[in-house]
Amino acid sequence: MKNLASFFLLLSLCCPQQSVAQQKYNSQITKQNMLYTDAEIDQLLLKLTDEEKVSLVIGRGMDNVGNVGVIDGRVPGAGGQTYDVKRLGIPDIILCDGPSGLRISPIRENTTKTFYATAFPSETVLGSTWSKDLAQHIGRALGTEAKEYGIDVLLAPGVNIHRNPLGGRNFEYFSEDPVLSGMMAMNLINAVQELGVGTSLKHYAANNAEHNRLFSNSLVSERALRELYLRPFEIAVKGSQPWTIMTSYNKLNNTYTSARRDLNYQLLREEWGFKGLVMTDWYSGFPNVEIIRAGNQSNDVSAQIRSGNDLIMPGSKIQLEAALEDVKSGKLSKKDLDFAVRNVLRLVSKSPSPLQYKYSDSPNLKAHANLSRAVAAEGTVMLKNSNTLPLVSNTRIATFGVGSYHLVVGGTGSSEVATSYNVPIYKGLQNAKFNLYKPLLEKYVPYVEEEERKDIERRAKLNVLAPLGVIAQLNITDDELSDAVKNTDVAIFTVGRNSAEEQDLNVDTEYNLTKEEESLLNRISSAYKKQNKKVIVVLNVGSVMNTSWSDKADAILVTWFSGAEGGNAFADIVSGKVNPSGKTTATFPKSYADVPSAKSFYASEASDYRDIRYTEGIYVGYRYYDSFNIETAYPFGFGLSFTKFNYTDLKLDKQDFKDNIKVSVKITNTGKVAGKEAVQLYVGAPKGTIDKPLKALVDFGKTKLLQPDESEIIELSIGAKEIASFYPDKSQWIADAGTYTILVGKSSQDIVLKSEFKIKNTLVVEKVKPAFTEKLDFSDLKK
Ligand code: BGC
Repeated sequence: MKNLASFFLLLSLCCPQQSVAQQKYNSQITKQNMLYTDAEIDQLLLKLTDEEKVSLVIGRGMDNVGNVGVIDGRVPGAGGQTYDVKRLGIPDIILCDGPSGLRISPIRENTTKTFYATAFPSETVLGSTWSKDLAQHIGRALGTEAKEYGIDVLLAPGVNIHRNPLGGRNFEYFSEDPVLSGMMAMNLINAVQELGVGTSLKHYAANNAEHNRLFSNSLVSERALRELYLRPFEIAVKGSQPWTIMTSYNKLNNTYTSARRDLNYQLLREEWGFKGLVMTDWYSGFPNVEIIRAGNQSNDVSAQIRSGNDLIMPGSKIQLEAALEDVKSGKLSKKDLDFAVRNVLRLVSKSPSPLQYKYSDSPNLKAHANLSRAVAAEGTVMLKNSNTLPLVSNTRIATFGVGSYHLVVGGTGSSEVATSYNVPIYKGLQNAKFNLYKPLLEKYVPYVEEEERKDIERRAKLNVLAPLGVIAQLNITDDELSDAVKNTDVAIFTVGRNSAEEQDLNVDTEYNLTKEEESLLNRISSAYKKQNKKVIVVLNVGSVMNTSWSDKADAILVTWFSGAEGGNAFADIVSGKVNPSGKTTATFPKSYADVPSAKSFYASEASDYRDIRYTEGIYVGYRYYDSFNIETAYPFGFGLSFTKFNYTDLKLDKQDFKDNIKVSVKITNTGKVAGKEAVQLYVGAPKGTIDKPLKALVDFGKTKLLQPDESEIIELSIGAKEIASFYPDKSQWIADAGTYTILVGKSSQDIVLKSEFKIKNTLVVEKVKPAFTEKLDFSDLKK
C-alpha cells in the first residue's frame, strides 16, 4: 500500500493536471486520513521551488485591507486560505472563524441557497456550564458545521485569561482561571478534531486587552506567564494537540509574540510537545504592522518564520517578495523555511478538503439550535433569587429595557456568526406562553426593530470589525410604569452590552449601568416593591459587571452572550423547565476599583499607550480576592439553583502525593426538584519561599441531572503541575514539601469539604529552560 501511495505521488509530480488527492480518491487508495506521509513530504520539499515554498507559508484571504490574495470563492466569507501549488498537485485549505460559530457569507452569488450557521453561545457561557461534556458537544457541533461547509480549520477556541472585566474579548474566552479555560478548550478541541477538522488555539499569548492591540506591549513576569497566561495553552496543547495555534497581536515583554522563538518553539514544541502548525493572527507582525501603518512595507516576515511561525496570515504580495529575497540572501535559512513548509504540508495533508471530503453545505442547523439552547440555559448563572423564580406559567410579565427586545447574540468581529435569526428575551417568553404586557411590546418592538435595521445599514458601510451600535433606552413615563405595575405580576429588566475586537469596555457606561438604565431600574424597582411584586434583572453581557444595584432586584440572571437561541434558553430557566446550574467563571468584584489590574489595564499615557504592566503578577481573579481578603459581589464559581446539594464522602486514593491523587466526592440532591451541580476542587499549597495564592482550582466536574434524593460520585484528580509553583530563579516547577489543603466546594468561597495530603520532600515537578527573562521595571504584587 505504501509503495502504491508513493507511486501515485510520483505520478502526480509528472502529471500535474490531476491532483494527488484526486488520483488517490479516484483509485480509492485508503491511506487513512492522510494525503502525504512524512516521507512524501520530504519528496515534495525536494521538488518545490523557493517561490513555491514561500507561497505555502504566506497565506491569503480577506482582501479588505488591500494587496492580499483574494479567496477563490470556495467558501465565501471564510477568513483565510493557504495557496495551492498546482504544478505539484498540492491543494489549499480553508480557515474560518470562530469560537461561537462560523463566520461565512450566508448569501452567495448565483444561487438562492443560503449558508447560515448556528450562533452558538459564547465561550463564557460554555465555561459557565462547567461541563466538560458540553464542551465536547459544542466541539462536535462546531466541527460538523465547519466540515459540512467545506472548512478545514476552525479558528477557535480562545483561552486568554479574563484579566480584567473590561477586556473587550472576554466573551470569547472561558474564564479568569487557567485550569477551567484549558480543560474546556481541550475537550472542545478533541471533539472537533475527532471529526477530522482542525482547530486554532488562540491568541498566544498575554493578549488580555483589545485597546491599541496592534501596538500594546504586555509586560509580564515569567511566573505569571507560566502559571496563568500560558497555562491554558499548555493544558490544551498537551491534552488535545490542536492542529494549529495562533499567535497574538501584542508584544510580550517588548517583542511581538509572533516573533518570539521562546514562545513559539522552545515552550510550545520543546517543552509541551506541540506537533502542529503555528500561524499569525491576521496581519499581525513583527514589525510589519507598525511599518505598514507608517506607509512602508516590512521584509521582516522572515523574523516571524525564524521564530517558529509557520504560516503568515494572510500575507501580502510584498511579504511574499520580501521573504523570497530573504531566502536568496540567506537572511531566512532554507532550514527554517523548510520547517515551516513541512508544517503547512502536514496540515494540508490531514485536512478534509485535500482529502476530498464531499461536504453537504447543509449542516443540521435544527439539531445545533437545540444544542445551543441547552448550553445557553445551562450556562446561565442565577446570582440572586429571593422567592421569585421559577415563574408559574400564567405569570403576567412586563418586559422593560431595550435589552429585553434586542438580543446581544454574541460579540462582533471575527466572532460574529452568520445566523439567520435570533430569539430575543421577550420572544422566548412568548414562545413559552408567558403572558407579556402588551403596551410595552407595542412601544419597544417597533422601535427596536427600526433601530436594528438602521444599524445593519450603518454597519454595512463599515469594515468587518465594526461593533454593533448602542440602542438608546426609551423613556417610560410614570403613567406607563404604574399601568404596568397594576397589570402585571413581575417586571423583567434586561441590560445588554456589546463587545467587539479592538475595543475594551469603559467603566462609566458599560461596566456600570448607564444613568438611564440606573434610573429606569430604580423606578421599576420601587414601583413593583410598593405593590409587593418582583423585579428580575437580566444581564446579557460579555463580561462581569457592576452589580451594586443588586438590592433593586429580587432575582438576577446572567445569560452572557447566549447565542441565537438566547430568549428560548432564558425562558427555559425562568419557567423552571431547566434548573439553573451555571456558575461564574470570573469574579464579580464589589467595585471596579477592587480589580487588581484596575490601574494597570490600560497602557499608561507616559509610555505612549503601549506598555501594560501586569503588576498584580499571579493574583488575578479569585486568586487575588481570596488571598487578600477582598470582599466580592459574587465569587468565582458561584451560581444558585432551585434545589440543594449535599456534599459528603470526600475520599482520596492516597495521603502522600507522588504524581497524582484521585479524589471522589458524593453529591446528593436534597431538594425538591431535579438539578445539576458543578463541583469544584481547589488546593491550598503550603508556604514556600515564594508567594502562593490561598487556593487554586485544580479540577472540576459536573453531575448528571440528579432527581431529588439521587446521588452521584464525582471523580476528580489532582495533578502535579496544578499544585506546583513556578520558581523563576530556579526555572523549576516546584511542589514544596508540606501539607496541602484540599477544598471541595460550590464556589471558591463556599468550601463544603476539606481534607489534606502531604508532600514529604520538595518535589521538582519540571525543570525548564528560562524564557521571558527580560528585566521588568516593576515587581509582582506580593502578599
Ligand atoms: C482575530 C482572530 C481571527 C482573525 C481572522 C483577527 O482579527 O483576532 O481571532 O481569527 O482575525 O478572522
